[in-house]
Amino acid sequence: MRSLTIHPAHKLSGTIMLPGDKSISHRAVMLGAIAEGRTAARGVLECDDCDYTIRAFRAMGVEISKEGDTTFIDGTGLKGLKKPAGPIDLGESGTSMRILAGILAGQDFDTVLKGQASLTKRPMARIIEPLSLMGARLRAAQGGFPPLEIKGGALKAVQYTMPVSSAQVKSAILLAGLYADGVTAVEEKIKSRDHTERMMKYFGADLTDEGLRVLVKGGRKLSGKTLEIPGDISSASFFMVGASILEGSRVRMKRVSINPTRAGILGIMSRMGAKVRIANTSDAFEPYADIEVESGPTRGIVIGEEEIPSIIDELPAIFVLAAFSKGRTVIKGAEELRVKETDRIDSMKENLAQMGVAIDVSADGIVIDGGATLKGAGLNSFGDHRTCMAMAVAALAADGKSEIDGIECVTKSFPGFFDVLDSLKK
Ligand code: S3P
Repeated sequence: MRSLTIHPAHKLSGTIMLPGDKSISHRAVMLGAIAEGRTAARGVLECDDCDYTIRAFRAMGVEISKEGDTTFIDGTGLKGLKKPAGPIDLGESGTSMRILAGILAGQDFDTVLKGQASLTKRPMARIIEPLSLMGARLRAAQGGFPPLEIKGGALKAVQYTMPVSSAQVKSAILLAGLYADGVTAVEEKIKSRDHTERMMKYFGADLTDEGLRVLVKGGRKLSGKTLEIPGDISSASFFMVGASILEGSRVRMKRVSINPTRAGILGIMSRMGAKVRIANTSDAFEPYADIEVESGPTRGIVIGEEEIPSIIDELPAIFVLAAFSKGRTVIKGAEELRVKETDRIDSMKENLAQMGVAIDVSADGIVIDGGATLKGAGLNSFGDHRTCMAMAVAALAADGKSEIDGIECVTKSFPGFFDVLDSLKK
């Protein structure tokens, strides 16, 4: 395990490009693989999770190559994937496992998906239930955890209401819907990220997005496309918060995804009083813009359950902002944070409490009384990339040095994180 000593920084300043959006990168590879013809995706994120998705499709006969910053995927069509030689290892990528299961449910061969470390403890019942209703046969290990055995075959369309808002589950059902006989409808109570809907339409699927309900007609072929992947707002969130809390900072992040189902942090930070500006908005199939954040005083707010899906991956960064904001921040309905790479409610609580933050948590909520000076401390990533990056930023604005254990986990989504952070430190 690697650890890193972090000294307080004066300020963050500069202009950066964020690596490609992780969610969109996974989908570009997956849809490219089952489309007909070649997909050219610029800016596919290079990280552990996306590499596992790429390896999974290579193991099923898909040719994937890279020239410069463009990834070429030679699609095999909906039914052209080949049975892999053995179980497919998806590392710690929950997104790969859950979304891929939807594609594999419709194949004429059986597969086993396995994971490592945190992925051996991620719940799979949430995809087993809807995919089983569609006629696939899936079996997880005890407790509903990976490995996951999938016996693919003919699927029937279903109408399914998801008990939790989850883009991974929704995506698995929509992709299985491509293989089903009839129109599959999936409904959720709060809209989760819509990258799959956007990309399936872009690739030619017969898909209707009514917001909380999405319908897809089975059997329609997809065709390979050229696309550009914007920067990841989840990765940007750490610099956004860092720039806000360190006096004298100004950071500009270019071409970051501002998809409204993902970009809740923009509104949250503004409500907290942070100085956030958007410029050069571009309305591609996934919208993006430059985001600029300047330091300034912030205040605590109440964040409601209906806001959680659009900030689910940014919450660790938002916890840190709350710790530096005057007054109380209350976050409600965030129980999904407990089933990420680690229990992020507990991991963030433990770390922030080490730094002297007044933080109280319940099963699904967090209360942070912010505004006091944080003190440097011994911190732990708990093997979770987002806990690690959020705490690295908190450490920059603390009084005294901190040491974070387990920093290698950032390669899951952002291998260059500490280099980019160093380049901004002034
Ligand atoms: C993701 C969906 C979210 C998110 C994860 C990526 C996706 O998970 O937390 O990092 O790409 O679909 P859930 O679908 O479990 O909410």
